[in-house]
Amino acid sequence: MASKLIVFGGNGFLGKRICQEAVTAGYQVVSVSRSGKAPHSNELNDKQWIQEVQWTAADIFKPDSYHELLKGAHNVVHSLGILLENENYKKTLSKTPTNDSKSYLLSIGAGPNPLKKSNPYWTYEMMNKQSAVILANTFKQEILKEGKMEQAKVNERSFTYISADKGFPMIPGGYINSKREAEIEIEKMKKYFRPIIMRPGFMFDERKNAIEPRSFIHTALELLYCGNKFLLQNKLQFMNDLIRPTVSTQQVSHSILTKMKDPNFSGVVTLEEILHI
Ligand SMILES: NC(=O)c1ccc[n+]([C@@H]2O[C@H](COP(=O)([O-])OP(=O)(O)OC[C@H]3O[C@@H](n4cnc5c(N)ncnc54)[C@H](OP(=O)(O)O)[C@@H]3O)[C@@H](O)[C@H]2O)c1
Repeated sequence: MASKLIVFGGNGFLGKRICQEAVTAGYQVVSVSRSGKAPHSNELNDKQWIQEVQWTAADIFKPDSYHELLKGAHNVVHSLGILLENENYKKTLSKTPTNDSKSYLLSIGAGPNPLKKSNPYWTYEMMNKQSAVILANTFKQEILKEGKMEQAKVNERSFTYISADKGFPMIPGGYINSKREAEIEIEKMKKYFRPIIMRPGFMFDERKNAIEPRSFIHTALELLYCGNKFLLQNKLQFMNDLIRPTVSTQQVSHSILTKMKDPNFSGVVTLEEILHI
C-alpha cells in the first residue's frame, strides 16, 4: 500500500509542488487547507497530478477537524506561515506590479492598520510557531494511540516543518525568531517521529509567470546575488550573510521527498544543502 502523506497548506505556493512531487513519487497524498480547494492551473501537466490528490478542508488550529486524517499517516508536512503580520501583503504579492517599482515594494508592507486584524491568528507566534506545534502534537497523539514505540516505527514517520534560512532585510525579527522557536519545539518530539526542518530562502516557481510580483523580486535578488559573487567575489562576509541565493519550490519539494524517504535522516536541511552548494 502507498505511504500516506498529509500536506497542511498543500494548495499554497510551495505546498502544491510538494503534493506534485509526492504524487510522482507514488505517495497517497492528502492536502489540508481551510478552503479545501485544489490550486488553480490551466496547464495540462498540473491537471494530471491535481486529480490524484485528496483536497480536504480543515483548520490547523482545530485538531478535531483533522485528527482522524492523521491516523495511519507516515509523513506530515507543515507548509504554511507568514512573512509579515500585516494581512494585506499576500494579496499585494499576487497583484501585478505598477510601473513605479519603489512604491510597489513599499506597498507590500503597507495597507490598513495592522493592529486591526480580521484574522486573530495572523501573528508570527500563531501562524509560524503555534500552528506547527499544535499539528505536531496532534500527530504525536495519533501515533501514541497505536501503542508501543520501537525505533524502527519512529523512523517510519516524519514531520516536516518549513522554516527559513535567515530573516530578510526590512522584515521584523519576530519572523525568524518564531521559526527558530518552532524548530526547537518540533525537535523535542523526535521520540515519536523524525523531524525534518527545511530552511529555504526566497522561493520562486520554475514555471513562473514573468509579470507576477514574485518573479520581479526573484530577478532583483538574483542580480544582487550574481553581483556579490562575480563583482565582490563573495569577499565581504556581511554581504554574503545579507545576499542569499534564491531557491525554487521544485528544488525544495525534491529535497523534502529525498529526506522523507531516508529512514535515518532527521534534523535541519540548510539552504546550501537544498541547492547542493
Ligand atoms: N514563499 C517564500 O519565499 C518562503 C521563503 C521561506 C520560507 N517560506 C515558508 O514556506 C511555507 C509555505 O509558504 P507559502 O508561500 O507556500 O505559503 P502560502 O502560499 O500562503 O500557502 C499557505 C497555505 O496554507 C493554508 N492555510 C492558511 N491558514 C490555514 C489554517 N488555519 N489551516 C489550514 N490551512 C491553512 C492556505 O490555504 P487556505 O487559505 O485555503 O486555508 C494556503 O494555501 C511557510 O512556512 C513560509 O513561511 C516561504
